[in-house]
Amino acid sequence: MRILLTGRGGQLGRALSRTLPALGELRALSRAELDISDEEALLATLQSVSPQVIVNAAAYTAVDRAEQELDAAQAVNAQAPAQMAEWAASRGAILVHFSTDYVFDGAKPEAYVETDEPCPLSAYGHSKLAGEEAIRQSGCNHLIFRTSWVFSGEGSNFVKTILRLASERETLRVVTDQIGSPTSTRLLAEITCAALSRRIAGGTYHAACSGSESWHGFARQIVWGALARGIRTSLTPDAIEAIASRDYPQSAQRPLNSRLNTQKLSRALGLQMPPWQDELHAVLDTLCSHDKA
Ligand SMILES: NC(=O)c1ccc[n+]([C@@H]2O[C@H](COP(=O)([O-])OP(=O)(O)OC[C@H]3O[C@@H](n4cnc5c(N)ncnc54)[C@H](OP(=O)(O)O)[C@@H]3O)[C@@H](O)[C@H]2O)c1
Repeated sequence: MRILLTGRGGQLGRALSRTLPALGELRALSRAELDISDEEALLATLQSVSPQVIVNAAAYTAVDRAEQELDAAQAVNAQAPAQMAEWAASRGAILVHFSTDYVFDGAKPEAYVETDEPCPLSAYGHSKLAGEEAIRQSGCNHLIFRTSWVFSGEGSNFVKTILRLASERETLRVVTDQIGSPTSTRLLAEITCAALSRRIAGGTYHAACSGSESWHGFARQIVWGALARGIRTSLTPDAIEAIASRDYPQSAQRPLNSRLNTQKLSRALGLQMPPWQDELHAVLDTLCSHDKA
């Protein structure tokens, strides 16, 4: 199987670069090697690599900046996936793409299922939804994995930010009324490989760790985890103040309920999603052993 991976330098791209070689011949390209918003470069790469599977881990992920950079977000999150989908449809290739809980408005009291009506609150959410819709409309064979609150030991993410702030600050305010499922790139890379190797039915799937937390609860667990691993922090979990989203103004509005129901994917793969705490502990084991070294 010839596989093209875009966005190799991102946190998910790095995890996929490690797992996809088990499935075939992988061509993994960073943004410096392929800017997916450059239509000519994207087409030339698709033609020269001629992949049977395209795994698109490239994305415009600056949620707040997207409010001012609508065109840039659309080019990466909507137009480029549309171009990949059109090419995949014409060649019989499979497109694997990642989307987000931010396609929903968070007003539903329960976890979101794949058939719930999206209603993004932010420019980023709109651009990701436009990418999903273009893929579905293209008729290409596709897997869209909507995920949430992605973390890993690499790149930029909430876990690394909280660990840094825990060594710099004595107090911190974190929002407590947004609830979601922190999800590791390790799990997403495993799901991607399992879905491709088991040839599950194409379509849209929710992919996230089991369990849910607020950003505030997540931050406390990260600091507890660091302390339990012998990391000295100036911040203690109890010094993390719980605040409401309205007291932490950001350019982009986020959904209060980001929980994704993953039963469809669990059934298709015969796999239980691991608790987010287990995945956090694995990442903290790596990050904290570096810090102590
Ligand atoms: N992070 C989250 O919490 C989260 C939550 C839900 C869904 N998702 C989705 O999960 C997927 C993976 O996200 P992630 O956390 O791995 O994001 P990430 O760490 O920000 O990685 C995205 C990668 O895409 C690259 N990129 C940006 N513009 C590009 C372009 N024009 N051409 C080629 N590459 C480009 C970025 O390069 P630079 O670093 O050079 O910009 C970066 O390497 C995305 O589809 C995202 O929307 C993420």
